[in-house]
Parts: sequence; structure tokens; C-alpha cells
Amino acid sequence: MLKQVTKQLALQGVRQFSVSQQNNYKVTVCGAAGGIGQPLSLLLKQNPLVTDLSLYDIVHTPGVAADLSHIDTKSKTAGFIGADQLADSLKGSDVVVIPAGVPRKPGMTRDDLFNVNAGIIKDISNSIAKNCPKALVAIITNPVNTCVPIAAEILKKAGVYDPKRLFGVSTLDVVRARAFIGHALGVDPQTVQIPVIGGHSGVTILPVLSQSQPLFKGNQDAIEKLTVRIQEAGTEVVKAKAGAGSATLSMAYAGARFAGSLLKGLNGEKNVIECSYVQSNITEATFFSTPLVLGKNGLQENLGLPKLNDYEKKLLEAAIPELKKNIQKGIDFANA
Ligand code: APR
Repeated sequence: MLKQVTKQLALQGVRQFSVSQQNNYKVTVCGAAGGIGQPLSLLLKQNPLVTDLSLYDIVHTPGVAADLSHIDTKSKTAGFIGADQLADSLKGSDVVVIPAGVPRKPGMTRDDLFNVNAGIIKDISNSIAKNCPKALVAIITNPVNTCVPIAAEILKKAGVYDPKRLFGVSTLDVVRARAFIGHALGVDPQTVQIPVIGGHSGVTILPVLSQSQPLFKGNQDAIEKLTVRIQEAGTEVVKAKAGAGSATLSMAYAGARFAGSLLKGLNGEKNVIECSYVQSNITEATFFSTPLVLGKNGLQENLGLPKLNDYEKKLLEAAIPELKKNIQKGIDFANA
């Protein structure tokens, strides 16, 4: 009996080993002890493509890592704490996900967070340039519209910028649109397809409801209400949490889904498509989110603008000047 069990375990071991040889990815979460970082790390701990999960923060990561390391999935978890350990946390990373920063409080806009979060992105980007310049980098820290151009400038200065490897995570806007449409239509949100393009705050978020599948049925009033709800959904959560932070659990879910898609692309899976905020020449805004095919080197193909109706064209017109402003602010910060 014991022999049989031992044999079975050995077989499992062999099987696990052969899987890990194919799917051998290191993911680092910067800001891993936070409201987003902890559930994001928990979800990534369950991703079978991850073999090394590296958790970096300025506080609490030894505890978070010890806790997660008891979960019976194959990835090894390691905690890194404080700026002195940032380099070690990043070395060898295939994907770096960044939710480090301060969250929004009631009455604050995403741009109010700018100075603190911009500095954090600058420091982490500098370390990425030195320690894992080929990693795919996914930025969650707000304001995403500005933090992504900051990271791009810092990576450029270090001579390692590859626009195919730097992403702003706007997945939560898609996740919210799917949830709201699914529940409004009485269908499983997981079956809803909808591109959400533009940026990741307020009027820059452009849900292309005319292209949703199944189609969102409603008069213009209902369409406008839903559009505004998706654009302002972050504020809905900030108000409901009443001083206890901004969206964390849904953001962690969205971040884990996006990181999972980056890993699927790295791993050679076909037809991995996500909307994400990247360097772009699709509109006048030099960073813009559209549906992208993800592959072995990150961004494989930008699928461009979906078909827009007249209302959506107006939304796009409103988004572009705001986006351009947000982008310029990032460029100026990085070059100051
Ligand atoms: N390096 C690494 N981690 C940092 C740094 C830094 N320089 N500065 C702060 N952090 C960590 C904090 O210690 C904390 O654990 O980032 C984490 C942020 O967690 P929370 O304060 O709980 O904030 P959260 O709700 O997770 O939001 C983080 O994501 O969506 C955005 O707007 C949000 O920019 C904010 C970020």
C-alpha cells in the first residue's frame, strides 16, 4: 500500500516536473502587500503557468509570502521588503505587475494621486530597466493614463524601452462592462464580449456598447446611463467604501486576468486578446487602449479601433484631448 502511494506521488512529481519545464514563468508583484496586491497575489498563486511568484512591497511581504507559500500549488513564493530588495525581487521576471501606490480617498480624483504614485512608478521602472529589461510590465497604479507614459520615458532613458512590452491595465473597465451588461440582459457576464477603448479614467474610458455581443438593448438614454456608469464605476466603489479605499478585489481579479493573458501569450497560446493601454498610433493620443493580440513577445498585433457609431465617435472626441493632457503630464514628470 505504502509502496503504491509512494509510486503515485513520484508519478505526480514527474508529471508536475514536466509541466513546470514547459511553463516556467516568474511573476513579480510590486505593491504585493496592498489592498489590490494581496488578492492579486492569491489569484496568481493559483495560475498554473507561474512557477515563481515574487512579492515586493515596502511593508509586510514576508508575512504575505509565508501565508501564500502554504497553498498547495506548484509556484514558489518569495517575499522581498524595502527598496534594498527591489532588485532581487525583479531579477529573472517574465512578467511584472505593479499595483504599488496610494489609493483614492473620497473626493480625490485619480490625478490627485499623481505625485506620490508617479514617483513610485519612476523608481520601479528604473529598477526594471536594470534587472529585468525584457519583462512584460503591467501597470495598475493610477493614474494609469499618466503612469504608463512615465514608465515608457524612464525605460527609454535607460535604452531598454520596447513598446510591445509595456501595458496599462484597463481590464477592470472591460470586466465591469461585462458584469453590468450581463446582469442587465440576464445572461452570464462571462459570455459577454465588449471592447472598452481609450484610457482608464473618467471620460477617457470608452465602452463600445454598439459592438457588445450579445448586443446591449436599450434606448439612447439607457446607453448613455450605462456608458457613464462604466466610466464612473471606480467612484461608485470609493463612495461605498466610505474612506476605506478604492476598488481592490475587482481590480485584483482584472489584474490577474490580464497577467494570465500575458502569460498565455508568452506560452504560445493563440488568439489571446485583451484591451490594454499601450503606445499607439491608432489615434492622436500616443497611448491608447484597443483590443490587442498578445504573443510570445507581448503585444503581437494591435487590432485597432472597433467600428464606432455617432455617439461613440463623440465620446472619442471628448477622450482624446484629455488623454493627450494625461500623457504629456507623464512625459513632463519623467523628464523634469
Ligand atoms: N514600492 C512598493 N510598494 C509600495 C511603495 C513603493 N515605493 N509605496 C507604497 N507601496 C505599497 C504599499 O505599502 C501598499 O502595500 O503599495 C501598496 C498599496 O496598497 P493600498 O494602499 O492598499 O492601495 P490599493 O488599493 O492596493 O491601490 C494601489 O492601485 O488602483 C490603483 O489607485 C490605486 O494607485 C493605487 C494602487
